[in-house]
Amino acid sequence: MPDDFTLARRSAMRWNAPLDETHAALLLSRLDVEGGTVVDLGAGWGELLIRAVETTPARGLAVDTDEVALDRGRRAARDRGARVEFVEQDAATWQGRADRALCVGASHAFGGTGQALAALAGVTDRLLYGDAFWAAEPTTAAVDLLGDDILTLPALLETCRATGWRVLHLSTADQREWDDFESTSRAGRLEWLLAHPDDPRAAETREWLDTREREYVTTYRGVLGFAYLVLVK
Ligand SMILES: C[S@@+](CC[C@H](N)C(=O)[O-])C[C@H]1O[C@@H](n2cnc3c(N)ncnc32)[C@H](O)[C@@H]1O
Repeated sequence: MPDDFTLARRSAMRWNAPLDETHAALLLSRLDVEGGTVVDLGAGWGELLIRAVETTPARGLAVDTDEVALDRGRRAARDRGARVEFVEQDAATWQGRADRALCVGASHAFGGTGQALAALAGVTDRLLYGDAFWAAEPTTAAVDLLGDDILTLPALLETCRATGWRVLHLSTADQREWDDFESTSRAGRLEWLLAHPDDPRAAETREWLDTREREYVTTYRGVLGFAYLVLVK
């Protein structure tokens, strides 16, 4: 069982993406799960997947490499009676077909956006896909921090077309979703720090929190976007 320091890290996050409840409900309505199998590749703790299947006869399969996240998902699914199985596996090695698929914030598991979209085209005919894009011209500092393989939104949509997809739905995370995502990504550790000010890990945790907050507001707030696409073929 992971200790409270490990569990605290993402404890304030509903899911690991800049997404509010209303936006999530819209995306799931466009994904239109009816039954069969829904696979989530890079699912984390699978909160979106649980919601996608829990009011339908569908079965969910969550694939991720993070055992702490998978365990959180298993507990949530069991507590809510959701038919979701959590599997520790590299998403890029998962073989199979599904009636619906999700891949949100996990294109890096496949080696990048183009590779992810191409691989996912072999998995399903209807996909909820979430990926980062440059919403504004990135500075050198932003590229150094976040990498040079992030696309603009038009280039992301061209990549969808080139890999055989058509865009049924497009929406992007707004500033409040981003600010809440960034805040909640730090809040679990901050609450831990307040409760354990004398712990040997306190100093490095304070430093981690300060660095993350500075990076966000100085380097990529308003520059990094996040797109949600429901893709069909
Ligand atoms: C930004 S999180 C998004 C998680 C989830 N889709 C959500 O929206 O809450 C990215 C996830 O990808 C997972 N991941 C990274 N590399 C992976 C791989 N090779 N195979 C499977 N999962 C991977 C991470 O463990 C993490 O849970």
